[in-house]
Amino acid sequence: MTIPKKVRLVEVGPRDGLQNEKQPISVADKVRLVDDLSAAGLGYIEVGSFVSPKWVPQMAGSAEVFAGITYRPGVTYAALAPNMKGFEAALEAGVKEVAVFAAASEAFSQKNINCSIAESLERFVPLMDAARANGIRVRGYISCVLGCPYEGEVPAGQVAAIAAQLDAMGCYEVSLGDTIGTGTAGATRQLFEVVGARVPRERLAGHFHDTYGQAVANVHAGLLEGIAVFDSSVAGLGGCPYAKGATGNVATEDLLYLMNGMGIETGIDMDRLVDAGQRICAVLGKENGSRVARALLAKRSR
Ligand code: HMG
Ligand code: MG
Repeated sequence: MTIPKKVRLVEVGPRDGLQNEKQPISVADKVRLVDDLSAAGLGYIEVGSFVSPKWVPQMAGSAEVFAGITYRPGVTYAALAPNMKGFEAALEAGVKEVAVFAAASEAFSQKNINCSIAESLERFVPLMDAARANGIRVRGYISCVLGCPYEGEVPAGQVAAIAAQLDAMGCYEVSLGDTIGTGTAGATRQLFEVVGARVPRERLAGHFHDTYGQAVANVHAGLLEGIAVFDSSVAGLGGCPYAKGATGNVATEDLLYLMNGMGIETGIDMDRLVDAGQRICAVLGKENGSRVARALLAKRSR
């Protein structure tokens, strides 16, 4: 397996990064974050979610965020949509790409989207049809691929079966989510081997939360398996409201540092990315969660 020469980083900070924040964040601050990220060269930004505001209050203003951002040519601005209601709201907001999300564990599926795995996949069928009719691309997520907060171990074969169904339904890419960050490099390689036997690796992505500090190692494991798309959050923002204690995604700055060091092309400007992370951290009153950003900022202030 050859290591990819070029990697696409999917920036999920405005969605996964902010969805769990309890404090109100203004539409203007969210818009600024998205615009800062596109200015830094991110080519794919997950802007928000069209989910129930009762379940995830922070994402309630997603339509306003889509209305406020400056659309840069060549950048994909995407949103989560769990069902037809969410898809229709996304369409109304002018969204051109959506992501559906399933889980590899029944308990997490119930907690996150209030239905079984099979029911969630059934819900996606009309959504996929409507997306096709409207020329909207659909990405798929699977949560809990390397462990579930309620069920513990999750067999890779179960992840592969769901990934194959999302792929067959028409998702152009399936992102495998280590929601609680318990995965390690060996398990990650094995997961991509097992899932890669059912879905071509060029249609797979990795989504690693950094709860146990393993995410960069897991991304490297993914690279060794030929995976060329990884999700990350600027400043390591985030967590899932339905996975207690889960921290943010791997920081985009940390992945960019890894890619730069390995000579892998991403098209992202580190300085502008660090500035984007610092600005949103100031808004949130939080310390920057990226080790690389903290190191570079310390160097700047010397
Ligand atoms: P439900 O309560 O079963 O839905 O929730 P329902 O169909 O029975 O409807 C109940 C009410 O919700 C109705 O309103 C619907 O209209 C409304 P009422 O009549 O009571 O006023 N409703 C909606 N409102 C807005 N947008 C919608 C929508 N759908 C129904 N799309 C539902 C089911 C899926 C809606 C709910 O469970 C939900 O919104 N869940 C979202 C949870 C979520 O966003 N989790 C975080 C994202 S996933 C994640 O973070 C993992 C990921 O990062 C990968 C990883 O790390 O693993 C992607
Ligand atoms: Mg996530």
